[in-house]
Amino acid sequence: MQKILLTFSILHFAFYISTATAQQVNETKGFYQFLTDDPNQKPFFSDKKGVFASNGMVASAHPEASRVGVEILKAGGNATDATVAVQFALAVVHPSAGNIGGGGFFVYRTAQGQNYTLDFREKAPLKGNKDMYLDAQGNVVAGLSMTGHLASGVPGSVDGMAEAHKKFGKLPWETLLQPAVDLAEKGHILTEKEARGLNMVKPTVQKVNPNTPYFAKPDGQDWKAGDVFVQTDLANILRLIQKKGRKGFYKGQTAKLLVAEMQRGKGLISKKDLRQYHSTWREPLVGTYKNFKIITMPPVSSGGVALLQLMKLVEPYPLKRWGWNTDSTVQVMIEAERRVYADRAKFLGDPDFVKVPVQELTDPNYLKERWRSFDFAKATDSKALQGGTIAGYESTETTHFSIVDKEGNASSVTTTLNGGYGSKVVVAGAGFLMNNEMDDFSIKPGVPNMFGLIGNKANAIAPGKRMLSSMTPTIIEQNGKLHSVVGTPGGSTIITSVFQTVLNVLEHGMSLQQAVNALKFHHQWLPDKTVFETNGFSENTIKKLQSRGYILEVQKNTIGRMDCILVQPDGTLEGGSDPRGDDTSVGH
Ligand code: DON
Repeated sequence: MQKILLTFSILHFAFYISTATAQQVNETKGFYQFLTDDPNQKPFFSDKKGVFASNGMVASAHPEASRVGVEILKAGGNATDATVAVQFALAVVHPSAGNIGGGGFFVYRTAQGQNYTLDFREKAPLKGNKDMYLDAQGNVVAGLSMTGHLASGVPGSVDGMAEAHKKFGKLPWETLLQPAVDLAEKGHILTEKEARGLNMVKPTVQKVNPNTPYFAKPDGQDWKAGDVFVQTDLANILRLIQKKGRKGFYKGQTAKLLVAEMQRGKGLISKKDLRQYHSTWREPLVGTYKNFKIITMPPVSSGGVALLQLMKLVEPYPLKRWGWNTDSTVQVMIEAERRVYADRAKFLGDPDFVKVPVQELTDPNYLKERWRSFDFAKATDSKALQGGTIAGYESTETTHFSIVDKEGNASSVTTTLNGGYGSKVVVAGAGFLMNNEMDDFSIKPGVPNMFGLIGNKANAIAPGKRMLSSMTPTIIEQNGKLHSVVGTPGGSTIITSVFQTVLNVLEHGMSLQQAVNALKFHHQWLPDKTVFETNGFSENTIKKLQSRGYILEVQKNTIGRMDCILVQPDGTLEGGSDPRGDDTSVGH
């Protein structure tokens, strides 16, 4: 257990290279009193204000990427065009999570109200197998699925962007790649957080790639805020993609360099893997919460199923009347989370390989049944709770951005290398980082992954199979109109962060930016404890929950990095970007 906890916090430290202390906030006293009766509690991470505009909005993890997105919107591009430009820009300016060597999910709602989802998640290499991270005794070889060449799945991001563009793009592909090429070739100015991230990861990158000087500052010193970070090899690869589309990545020079890199480090990705990779359009997952419609990602993400389950589970309870983060509100949310993550471990996996009972898991009667073991007097024991029973079922550093354009098309994208800077493998001569997404498989039944999540057969490795994800890019509608676009990184905390932020707006009367600023908590069934951000719970909430047997732990680092957009009643867009990172909304 200790090992799980340790891994969990080390990883959070690695992803959130943030200041981590809740800042003093200056909101009006009235709103505090409305939110909490504890005069010592500051319920917001900061008093950052939302960004407002009428013609379009891009909320992303980096000011340069958001600027690029808005430039594309201003040039007549739609939300998909901006999505492509932002995805490639993030691969340059936000290398810990932005990527061409990873994958992700794209949820799209047209201005006319049609919904689409594209799965560009990585796949296990064809030479992969369910025991590939076990030694001769059947034990997990520590770290093998997390660092180095074996940790990578076949990347999906470039194919995903090409597919999205083919279906919805308006501007030429070349135009959308140009900003990323420029940022890589001319360099971009590092923020303090980025400089800290590069310095932190440099020793590991150099160990994994002993012959390449990636991430080293030319003068051998540490990076600092204001330095210019130039990525010449990456610029060349982006030019190839610009010229040749998906072929510029999955064939020719890039494919050659990638496969050579794999061979150098005994990785499994082959030319055939690259040639055969294709992203997949999937039927969007749609559910309701009161009079809101929730459009979200189906499996192979667990995020959409989990979010719909969570919303339905808490719907009957008067959260608004009980108030934000009061003991009753928190208790009901924790117990919903406990049940949903137990289901996730048992049932969720790649729908192209296993039957995922989505309908059954989101059925209101099934969810009602799941509450049967809940007692307000006492925390449910996770050890005594398993995934639910479904008739006929045979068991078996990420980044998010949201975009709305002038017409009202909306794009919600979460994309990742998995851990911060992925596997730390930089493809020599190509300058991009490879993912360590293989760790999202259940590498051995019941053994926790880097987020402490456990899984089973449904998420076992198989050649060409996609690993389960928690990413939850989501779009919400009210009365047939676009209401909001939400999402975040954060591994297993993605689902609960989206859940809380949505409830903060729909139930607790917060503006979008307040909802993003508000402090969060998280429970994932196992380990059986609730982590919360400093100040997230009042003394009263802590005392009452502890008296009912809840194990509470302050999470020193932050939870979530939301980048969201809300349409106000008069049509004005509010961009809400997380104060916990460099996240920035830019409107026009
Ligand atoms: O797909 C998933 O659920 C994980 N690979 C997400 C990783 C993540 O969010 C890390 N970043 N903070």
